[in-house]
Amino acid sequence: MIIAVDGPTASGKGTIAAALAAHFGLPLLDTGLLYRAVGRQVFLDGGDPDDPGDALAACAFPDALLLDPHLRSEQTGGLASRVSIHPSVRAALFERQRAFATQPGGAVLDGRDIGTVIAPDADVKLFVTASAHARAERRWKEMQSRGLEVSLEEIEADILRRDARDTGRKDAPLAVAADAHVLDTSALGRNEAIAAAIEVVERFRRG
Ligand code: C5P
Repeated sequence: MIIAVDGPTASGKGTIAAALAAHFGLPLLDTGLLYRAVGRQVFLDGGDPDDPGDALAACAFPDALLLDPHLRSEQTGGLASRVSIHPSVRAALFERQRAFATQPGGAVLDGRDIGTVIAPDADVKLFVTASAHARAERRWKEMQSRGLEVSLEEIEADILRRDARDTGRKDAPLAVAADAHVLDTSALGRNEAIAAAIEVVERFRRG
């Protein structure tokens, strides 16, 4: 069974994808991490994330970079969203994601274009979303718990900027697949959101 989990930044899709993978005993690929690695590699190379050549060169990042804690930072998230605009970067990362999706036994992948581009044949597609305000509040609380002082307004503005870039790009924009099940987590706690996602998969999985 292939499960596609897409959604905007800080929607809870990563948490939901991890819970689905554990529940159904499937391997998980957080595809955002690949784009974050490209963004981080451009930075380490001293390149320009808006330059298609620099961004493509950074796709040859070493696998060890995927373990770099810097990948999780807001700064790297911003760089990832910039390099992910280039069609050549998306093409360079396609095979790796497609191979993961089609491995025997199935997989869970989370990202922006899993249900639309990487695995249009997925057995179940979830589009996890939440209001920009709810997403900003969650990220703000999480950053506060890590001792990071950032204003809620700043985080919300950054989330809106990233949404605009992800939905506005020409190649594989963030979009709800026609056959995706939309899960709005604005008013749901973590466990409620996970339970709702499991229910959708149980109900709509083929076979
Ligand atoms: O999900 P995450 O915040 O880690 O993704 C970082 C950035 O990578 C996103 O803002 C998006 O621009 C890009 N991305 C993408 N396609 C994916 C996953 C992530 O374009 N499948």
